[in-house]
Amino acid sequence: MAETIKIEPGSVQETLIIPLYGRKLCADMFPNLYKDESAARLCARLDYDFADMDKKAESTLWKFGALEAAMRQIDMEWEIRDYLLGHPQAAIVNMGCGLDQTGRACDNGTCKIYNVDMPDIIAARNELSPAGERELNIASDLNDFTWMDAVDGSGGAVFFAAGVFHYLTFEQAKALVNELARRFPGSRAVFDTVGKLGKNLMRQTFKNFGMDNYDDCLYVEDPSELDSWCSAARVSTRGYMLGYSDMDDPAVTGLHRFLARRCDGLVKMRIVRMDFEEPKAVRG
Ligand SMILES: C[S@@+](CC[C@H](N)C(=O)[O-])C[C@H]1O[C@@H](n2cnc3c(N)ncnc32)[C@H](O)[C@@H]1O
Repeated sequence: MAETIKIEPGSVQETLIIPLYGRKLCADMFPNLYKDESAARLCARLDYDFADMDKKAESTLWKFGALEAAMRQIDMEWEIRDYLLGHPQAAIVNMGCGLDQTGRACDNGTCKIYNVDMPDIIAARNELSPAGERELNIASDLNDFTWMDAVDGSGGAVFFAAGVFHYLTFEQAKALVNELARRFPGSRAVFDTVGKLGKNLMRQTFKNFGMDNYDDCLYVEDPSELDSWCSAARVSTRGYMLGYSDMDDPAVTGLHRFLARRCDGLVKMRIVRMDFEEPKAVRG
């Protein structure tokens, strides 16, 4: 039996367990909608007590939570594939990657894949899923922009963050997208946000993971707020649950659909896309 890896409890890094477990659950429960061969394998390699989650997984709410994790991945993959159509040699950059394998799922054979997270998570990732060909794992705090030095954006770049911007402050999130716009003109950034109600619903999660900067952390009530973030960005948003997919799977119930509409509407769960201006042509 391969050695198991411990994720430090009570830290923002521990938050990776929720979407990872959600994707495993979703692949089991909604196979027509979502496939993920890696999530179950990676969960099995973690030294983590999943017993409580296994118990809760029977409930409608937890099944819905699993759907949330999977829908977000479907949304991100859509945006990445769309960008790769015009930039087949682009860098796909997973910011706050946890143990997620979206870069590989979108691999077209010519892109480059980068996974960025805190050093302990990258150490775990290197053990559990060492970087492959055209892939680099970068150990860094996202707020220390020197990590961007390692990204080759010469063929374009698509940056995405799934379930990560909730843990950044408003100022950190804005600074990050502005730095991406400055260093990688013509690139795209994709991330998910929630409204104020959504943030309040996450309060307990923040507490459980030992985060004390809850009040300063990002939420987006009205997407027009994003227009002022970065002058080089063209901003568009879509519903997180139903903006990219109609959740076509016989196992998706009427209640799931009802909750999905509420998440996109009331909770203001959104996928935000920022397309950064191409470099200006130099006139000769
Ligand atoms: C909820 S998990 C999501 C993981 C992954 N994106 C997924 O969908 O499975 C949040 C991840 O963001 C990472 N993270 C949060 N703040 C970060 C920061 N400032 N720099 C680097 N990583 C960060 C955490 O370590 C964690 O792996």
